[in-house]
Amino acid sequence: MSITTPRDGRSSAAPSNSLTTKVTMPALAEMKRQGKPITALTAYDYATSRLVDEAGIDMILVGDSLAMVVLGHDNTLAITVDEMLHHTRAVRRAVRRALVVADMPFGSYHASTREGVANAVRFVKEAGAEAVKIEGPRVELVRALAESEIPVVGHLGLTPQSLHRMGGYRVQARTADTVLRLRADAEALAAAGAGALVMEGVPREVAAAVTADLPIPTIGIGAGPECDGQILVFHDILNLTFAPHAKFVRQYADAAALILGAVEQYREDVEQRRFPSDAESYHLPEAVRGAALIPVGTRG
Ligand code: KIV
Repeated sequence: MSITTPRDGRSSAAPSNSLTTKVTMPALAEMKRQGKPITALTAYDYATSRLVDEAGIDMILVGDSLAMVVLGHDNTLAITVDEMLHHTRAVRRAVRRALVVADMPFGSYHASTREGVANAVRFVKEAGAEAVKIEGPRVELVRALAESEIPVVGHLGLTPQSLHRMGGYRVQARTADTVLRLRADAEALAAAGAGALVMEGVPREVAAAVTADLPIPTIGIGAGPECDGQILVFHDILNLTFAPHAKFVRQYADAAALILGAVEQYREDVEQRRFPSDAESYHLPEAVRGAALIPVGTRG
């Protein structure tokens, strides 16, 4: 058993004013207009989402990267709608302020627009997502989602669900043709009603041009500093991926070392009988000790 402070009993150290105002999709657009950088991070469970939210991050993406960093798959392709819903619900329960965006997994919107809308509705209705993210220039689907009142975040550039088509995780849009294609796709997604656009693994100059082109915010990952916002994977910034990190990742802490050290210390304490101490034990009231503690079988 572990006791978690209920939602209403959060620490009074929580920041106030703009850091407590609920973030919405229109609020992200307003941040772009005001030139305020948008902060975004992935998260996949209650405890970490709660910390990410309390740290004042504007947008939390329940990314399908959870297939890799939480579930140990080699890529993002295997994760299902039901698994994504399960994690999105946990995040939803933790988050008060940030915009909660659910990633639509591979196969959940590829067969038809109708199926894509039906699955997106599940993320909103069954898991409390406030927006969904879809990969690729799926203009018709974005329009249908916008018409269905579902805010949508597009995702262009290195789209991990296209792993096999791309032939690996490679920086995209490096030729004049592909840059022009990406810019046209970005414009089309914005015109179709996307509320924001993630750009992943594209040259800084390309992301800067798209950011200047679009009326909606761009959120970069491996796309340079000119984007309207930045997103990274939670496990990457905390050294929890068991792999060398990509060039665009900045590691902010070593949670792996912290957790390993704490767990080893706990194991040693148990092995050396240093845990639990008397203070960490419950005690029988004095009045019942005598009779109750006579060894079994010696009672008359
Ligand atoms: O699933 C994911 O983590 C993403 C990235 C944009 C961070 O899609």
